Amino acid sequence: MIPATQSATQKAHIRPVHPFPARMAPSIVWDALPESGDTLTILDPMSGSGTTPVLARSKGHHAIGCDTDPLALLIARTWCNNVKPDRLFLRAKAVLARAMELREKTPSEKSYPKNADDETRRFMDFWFDPRNRRELNALAICISWVRSQTERTLLWCAFSRMIITKTAGVSLAMDVSHSRPHKVYDAAPVRPFDAFLKAVSKVVNNCPFSTDTHNTPAADIRHGDARTLPLDSNSVDRIITSPPYLNAIDYLRGHKLSLVWMGHNISELRALRSGNIGTERSTNIASEKAVREAMKSMGDLTVLDKRQSGIVRRYVNDMEKVMKECARVLKPGGEAVFVVGDSSIRGVFVQNSKALIRLAHSQGMSLVSRNTRPIEIKRRYLPAPEYEKSGCSLRTRMREEVILRFRIHKTGAQ
Ligand SMILES: C[S@@+](CC[C@H](N)C(=O)[O-])C[C@H]1O[C@@H](n2cnc3c(N)ncnc32)[C@H](O)[C@@H]1O
Repeated sequence: MIPATQSATQKAHIRPVHPFPARMAPSIVWDALPESGDTLTILDPMSGSGTTPVLARSKGHHAIGCDTDPLALLIARTWCNNVKPDRLFLRAKAVLARAMELREKTPSEKSYPKNADDETRRFMDFWFDPRNRRELNALAICISWVRSQTERTLLWCAFSRMIITKTAGVSLAMDVSHSRPHKVYDAAPVRPFDAFLKAVSKVVNNCPFSTDTHNTPAADIRHGDARTLPLDSNSVDRIITSPPYLNAIDYLRGHKLSLVWMGHNISELRALRSGNIGTERSTNIASEKAVREAMKSMGDLTVLDKRQSGIVRRYVNDMEKVMKECARVLKPGGEAVFVVGDSSIRGVFVQNSKALIRLAHSQGMSLVSRNTRPIEIKRRYLPAPEYEKSGCSLRTRMREEVILRFRIHKTGAQ
């Protein structure tokens, strides 16, 4: 736990409560946040694991995070909540004890969430061995019985942490945390009942806010689509966000392994995935002028085939909607910081950052600064084949992220 009295630099060193691909570097967020003074409203419209809201809250600001991925929301809520460690450990032990009893009464063929349809059950059979399925099912039921929402959220986060791992977890897969799960085990290397309390302890120890020491405004983590934000116009002082990169990460591919235990069916997650920004889905819809110009600025896209350029078009269309919403919710004079990486599609360098500059401009936002910084090796989650295909100089550029800072020019009435 980070006591409320620690220095600003130390506070930027937050520790994640759960793995998340392409997390934003905390130092970028820290530098983009105004020093304490007035309490400002800080928004991340695609908040993922919650780096922006956590740091905004720790600087005393009112933080809002939106995302469409239920697991991202769960992680961000856990990270931003006030926790009471002693109470949580007691609760976790009680949940485990009840789950052990319940497992004895529930045979393997009944160890699925109540509403799981056939496709979801097959998915669970594929990724989990029968013994772990029984243990996970019993734990999931007992967690869902916990009455306090804050405690339940944290226990779900710990539950998920056992599944979303790089190597040894409770599923039969590796690389789940990079959202590239592949089946490698016949029997899972870790048993949920053995790992649960350790997972709770890791989550609790990495939660920076405790009920006793923090009276800063609570963060508001909401389900919301960045293309149609559930927020009033002129209500946000600063936006700090890192949108999904074009064709880089399919977040739900890994997250599905946890979300099925929380009552989500595969068909529902498939629909959610295909609607998300940055997924490899194409569009033929004619684009507005701003989108066409943004696409032109991205590089030589003429070499892409129809499907590939459709993917780029869809991404830019989506990002145009995001920019429009950001411009709408920002207060006059407000600022938006976008952290974005460039992409490679079939060896073609696609400059997402240039498109964002064009789109921001078309929404009345001017570029205040543009900086680049290397992406730390442990934070690089680009798809391996694309990465390998790209040439040497291209690989270098793709190891950088671009930090764009915009200011909105509008009057209060807009
Ligand atoms: C690069 S990640 C954000 C990482 C985050 N900054 C962090 O530090 O954890 C991009 C996020 O955008 C979310 N996303 C994708 N489409 C979205 C949409 N239409 N509305 C809101 N969020 C969306 C994804 O679920 C993902 O969590």
